[in-house]
Amino acid sequence: MCGIVGYIGKQDAVNILIDGLRKLEYRGYDSSGIAVIHDKHLTVEKAVGKLTNLEEKIAPLAVKGNIGIGHTRWATHGKPSDANAHPHTGEKGQMAVVHNGIIENYLYLKETYLAGEHFTSETDTEIVAHLLEKFYDGDFEQTVIKVLDLIEGAYALVMVCADEPDKIIACRKGSPMVLGVGEGESFIASDVPALLAYTRKCIYIEPGELCILTQEGIEIKNHQGEVLAKEIHTIDWSAEAAEKGGYEHFMLKEIEEQPAAFQRAMAGRIKNGRVKFDDFTLTKEDIAKWRKIYIVACGTAYHAGLVGKTIIEKMVRIPVEVEIASEFRYRNPMLDEETLVIVISQSGETADTVAALQEAHDNGSKVLAITNVVGSAIARAADYVVYLWAGPEISVASTKAYTTMLLAQYLFGIYLAQQMEMITAEAENDLLAQLQQLPVETEKMLTAAYQSQIQQIAANYEKVNDVFFIGRGLDWAIALEGSLKLKEISYIHAEAYAAGELKHGTLALVTTETPVIALCVQEATYDKTASNIKEVKARDARVLAIINEGDTETAKFVDDVLAIPRINNFLSPILAVVPLQLISYYTAKIRGCDIDQPRNLAKSVTVE
Ligand code: M6R
Repeated sequence: MCGIVGYIGKQDAVNILIDGLRKLEYRGYDSSGIAVIHDKHLTVEKAVGKLTNLEEKIAPLAVKGNIGIGHTRWATHGKPSDANAHPHTGEKGQMAVVHNGIIENYLYLKETYLAGEHFTSETDTEIVAHLLEKFYDGDFEQTVIKVLDLIEGAYALVMVCADEPDKIIACRKGSPMVLGVGEGESFIASDVPALLAYTRKCIYIEPGELCILTQEGIEIKNHQGEVLAKEIHTIDWSAEAAEKGGYEHFMLKEIEEQPAAFQRAMAGRIKNGRVKFDDFTLTKEDIAKWRKIYIVACGTAYHAGLVGKTIIEKMVRIPVEVEIASEFRYRNPMLDEETLVIVISQSGETADTVAALQEAHDNGSKVLAITNVVGSAIARAADYVVYLWAGPEISVASTKAYTTMLLAQYLFGIYLAQQMEMITAEAENDLLAQLQQLPVETEKMLTAAYQSQIQQIAANYEKVNDVFFIGRGLDWAIALEGSLKLKEISYIHAEAYAAGELKHGTLALVTTETPVIALCVQEATYDKTASNIKEVKARDARVLAIINEGDTETAKFVDDVLAIPRINNFLSPILAVVPLQLISYYTAKIRGCDIDQPRNLAKSVTVE
């Protein structure tokens, strides 16, 4: 998804913009650009491809200035190209605009207000720059307000005007942005990592707010033009935490951060044998009112929700439906005050999940958000929030966010059962004690020896075109996540099936060319899964089984095994996914893939 950076102050804007854009590379992009003002002259430079292409382009030009905006683009309207990269300007080259999101009525605006004007790109963004220049009458702020009244869609826009080089103007409706408060300088960015090297004081921008950044400070106004007193948050992430810390890839770093993430996610939440959440309390009456729960999310977060269904149904016997957020509101879901909607999102900004949350609220349902990003749109809009406390996740492939989503749901499920008095003290103590063992147990799968075993197994997948993942129950939910991870970063076609379902069609595809990864962790379904493995073995597929430590049986009828530490079977999904994350990582590495920024994908998906 596009990344935005803006700076005004006394320092060289170019360095700050490039540095900020680099911190936003994790969002995925296909081109980049900057616009800088010096002596009332606007310079715009853009380049398709990696940020280094832009740097190489601007180095000999000695572009300078103390005010500027920058952008990494993830194409929506128009293919990746120098021309389509942002910033965009109007015909006079007097105003520059960077944009994240979509201007839905851009064709109407073009035809209605800009007939006869010359455009250099295929983007919706360029229309905004043209409108600004067309309506400019010496008052930048009033011109922006006039243009904002015309445009429809979800967007974050940051704009500069060569004739008024003392300010940057920004606004958002949908796409996230955060302001950085400095001494004699002000910053704006799509996400906090771009600001951390310069300031830890930030302000989250709400939809509809207009921000005027100057060297002296930042003014934020509402739609009526009233100046708002906004809370300044202090970010406590270290700058290093948002960077690679010596790892070749963020993905491996984040996989190895899981034990620490688990500790953080549980810290302060388990007190005297009970689960507590700082930000909310649900009484027995609140919970008893829910006749149904929806869990709504996308991608990996959706897979986490599939485990959440089993957790909640087991703990408090409330029926749970898990829904893909992009489908949810279009199928007229049965929402009311007796329904709880749980939205899960690492970023807290996924457009479809935000829309699902809104749908829930519009129909009277309360919303609980499970998210990693404090101050994100989803965190702000939800009635109750459970933070993941996973720390920043930069790699596009979600790993520690997924496992902490599971952990958050186990904690929430136990909490519900306690409030409803549906769990015995003994069961509760056992579950909590085992949850607290997770960091130690996970470490056992992160050792050099374990990873070297995985590297050897991953070599089997270097040249394959298709992989099947199979499992039953919770093992199936994990298989789905394993297959998404593999296809996402190694570009191998991977499918996950409920193990018993293979023989209803897909078994026809199983040959010696299609390796199978079988999850054999759930004891209740072990025998049945073993039979399904024998079915694929009979078709000569090479089988890797993920097994519990101490299982000596499975190795007799598969080709490879990877054991996970033995833990209460109900909690084992958190451990069982770790070898799958590592297999994906090492397979992608052998295949030379761009692991942290897989092709066509973005970390934060803020368009529907
Ligand atoms: O930020 P979110 O958790 O809402 O993101 C949802 C999906 O886009 C995300 O989980 C995606 O599937 C991951 N890249 C998978 O690794």
